Amino acid sequence: MSAADPQAWGTRRRRRFAPETWAPLICKGVWDETADVRTFLLATADGSRIEHDPGQFMTFRIDTPDGAVERCYTIASSAARDGGIEITVKRQDGAASGHLHDTLTPGASITAFGPSGRFGPVAWPGLKYALITAGSGVTPMLSMLRTAADRGIDVDAVLLQVSPTDADMIAAEEIALLKRRLPQLVHIPIPTRGAGAARPNAELLTSLIPDMAERTVLCCGPQPFMEMVRSTARDAGVPSESYGEESFDFSSPETEITPAADARLRSVTFARSGKVFDCAETTTILAAVKAAGLPLPSSCARGMCGTCKTFKHSGEVTMAHEGGIRQREIDRGFILPCVSRPLTDIVLDC
Ligand code: FES
Repeated sequence: MSAADPQAWGTRRRRRFAPETWAPLICKGVWDETADVRTFLLATADGSRIEHDPGQFMTFRIDTPDGAVERCYTIASSAARDGGIEITVKRQDGAASGHLHDTLTPGASITAFGPSGRFGPVAWPGLKYALITAGSGVTPMLSMLRTAADRGIDVDAVLLQVSPTDADMIAAEEIALLKRRLPQLVHIPIPTRGAGAARPNAELLTSLIPDMAERTVLCCGPQPFMEMVRSTARDAGVPSESYGEESFDFSSPETEITPAADARLRSVTFARSGKVFDCAETTTILAAVKAAGLPLPSSCARGMCGTCKTFKHSGEVTMAHEGGIRQREIDRGFILPCVSRPLTDIVLDC
């Protein structure tokens, strides 16, 4: 949109983006955060507003040369924003993020689903926060702080940001500006290489955040980092209800679980394709789908993202999800196959 177009600046009431369907988003802008991290501004094609809470994410279908894959990216922008969302993506090994960096340019579209997830200050309300991040794990905290600044929420927060070098600190300059609007924000960048390098461990965390037990701790980063932070918070006296974490490092997905040899088998039927296969009661339906070589979109394999949501025509399952499905969807008959195990024979709308 041109800066000379009054529509680009004007405020108007917007319809709400439907959160439970796949829909195209249009890339409106792209900029580099660091050498290998890029932010994409995305908006709906019809101008509808993407309502989200700080800390939520969206699932994106990325058409790589090797086929379509789904990936989850946290919304990094303020929940108070009306003109689109930002995702901040690190170029990593594997096709998806590199393909986004190479092809998602202004005017291009990408199919998205969401927002989803329960991570953030809505699910973990607190008077004081410790926001402990590594790498691009800072993005949900950026959404939280940007939202606080936009809404005049004087949040008391320590943001501990671990990155390889100072040059890799995402949004470091912006955080310095946010501190003017959020006077109780303390930013502690921790480079792990170069000048001022430190090793993020329990001793360092407790020395930098001595009042951790009084704070709600939100953590985002790779799994080993989160395990260290989780045990540090527990040892510091942070109650489990005051500790939340999120990661899209899905290195041990449920789909790799091997069923017990004596587990009872149930049949799963895909009603539309007519495919029928067995699934042990101890195995997730998604794992059985993949073992049968059948297609079913999935991303997190942990009941978080909602990508695998499927209508169940009949049968009973046990399902332990992590926010990827709403109660009203469960009431209507939907399940998340990645975290559902069959109790009876099952018929799915696939
Ligand atoms: S794949 Fe994410 S909820 Fe099932």
